[in-house]
Amino acid sequence: MTGASLLVADDDRVARDLLVEILEREGYRVRAAAGGLECVQLAEAAPPDLALVDLRMPDLDGLEVLRRLRGLGPVPLVLILTAFATIDTAIDAIRAGAYDYLSKPFRVDAITLAVRRALEAHRLLRENAHYRAELRERYRVENLVGQSPRMVDVYKLIARVAALDTTVLVEGETGTGKELVARAIHYASRRADRPFVVVDCAALPETLVESELFGHERGAFTGAVASRRGLLETADGGTCVLDEIGELSSALQAKLLRVLQERTIRRVGGNETITLDVRVIAATNRDLKRQVTSGSFREDLYYRLNVVGVTMPPLRERRQDIPLLAQHFLDKYARAADKRVSGFARETLAVLADHGWPGNVRELEHAVERAVALSSSELILPDDLPDHVRGATAARGGGVPDGMTLEDMKRWYVAKVLEDTGGNKVRAAELLGIDRRTLYRILDRQAMEEDAGS
Ligand SMILES: Nc1ncnc2c1ncn2[C@@H]1O[C@H](COP(=O)(O)OP(=O)(O)OP(=O)(O)O)[C@@H](O)[C@H]1O
Ligand SMILES: [Mg+2]
Repeated sequence: MTGASLLVADDDRVARDLLVEILEREGYRVRAAAGGLECVQLAEAAPPDLALVDLRMPDLDGLEVLRRLRGLGPVPLVLILTAFATIDTAIDAIRAGAYDYLSKPFRVDAITLAVRRALEAHRLLRENAHYRAELRERYRVENLVGQSPRMVDVYKLIARVAALDTTVLVEGETGTGKELVARAIHYASRRADRPFVVVDCAALPETLVESELFGHERGAFTGAVASRRGLLETADGGTCVLDEIGELSSALQAKLLRVLQERTIRRVGGNETITLDVRVIAATNRDLKRQVTSGSFREDLYYRLNVVGVTMPPLRERRQDIPLLAQHFLDKYARAADKRVSGFARETLAVLADHGWPGNVRELEHAVERAVALSSSELILPDDLPDHVRGATAARGGGVPDGMTLEDMKRWYVAKVLEDTGGNKVRAAELLGIDRRTLYRILDRQAMEEDAGS
């Protein structure tokens, strides 16, 4: 983006002149400030596309400049320049909203590359923002919060599949918003004013799943005193979500496959064939492909379901969404409780940004809900957050050994939360923001792996 307007602020004249020269040579329009105050004044007079701001300046330091620039209106792009390239200051700067940092002494190509990259990323972001607004207009995805590229991909996919009647498989860890996505697809589709039905395949014993799904005739089994429509039938004309599809027994997998192929059902104990018009969305937090490989899930059913696949990214892989989600939940719970809590203290945001969120968005939502309830000030303080959320941050500096894999980290974390709760799994599941069944599954899997490993 040649022609972009840049602002360089550095009290060191040599560095400043060098930057101006390099960047002008690249075709940018460059203004220079000899200090933090002047930088803010120039930005006020005409906001730049990008500001390069030295961290250490005698009148206003870079972080303060950043804060004031943010106060001026739309968040400007800021690259922080630092001669003290410790990871800490850099992270502080990024947390405070800087786009990136550059360490001194500069290398010419590092500067031009960083500037080009920042401007390009910003342009994409703006386009995406535009695209999202349009999506939001046309399709109702406003209940999904997040602007990370990964989420934008999800929005695009929702928009694309909503118009069709294809079966969709939504995969992702617990609490990543799979059900929300299924809902968004439904409400963006022509089926929006028809039923939206969720069946939790894991919550029911096998015998019940079958009659829940397909319904039953009177006398089909003991206790079937009247005939009843199944959930698939209830969803006729609309959308049926089969949650935790990976838990379906092989007998039911076979029956479901037939339903998807023939678009008809037969109630348990019934002879009549009932034709259905239902869009099926399957969801799972297990690796279904792996279940196919290991033989616990039918391959033909997998391909029937996975006509279009949506994979929800875990929260730790889209950390830029954390502040947005946190604020969204804060507004929601503050409004509900009629409390005057308006935002997060900076340190609190830092803790939230650092946490691993194994329970993903649900865990974040619970943490914020609890914080709003506990908070006695206008801003949420780190102390208002659950111990384990703060604890993980503290431990990151020391406790967790380097070289831990994500899997190790998860294991360590679950163990730690269990320890905090004195082994109370119900409470631990709550703190992790996952449901109890999921926790049991994680523990079972760990036990199995440990058995296998020993
Ligand atoms: N992108 C998002 N924006 C706003 N809220 C979200 C988002 N993702 C998830 N949530 C919220 O987090 C909670 C969990 O979401 P949801 O039930 O859709 O997750 P899930 O992936 O189905 O989890 P599970 O595998 O445990 O069933 C819900 O309260 C939901 O509203
Ligand atoms: Mg779910």
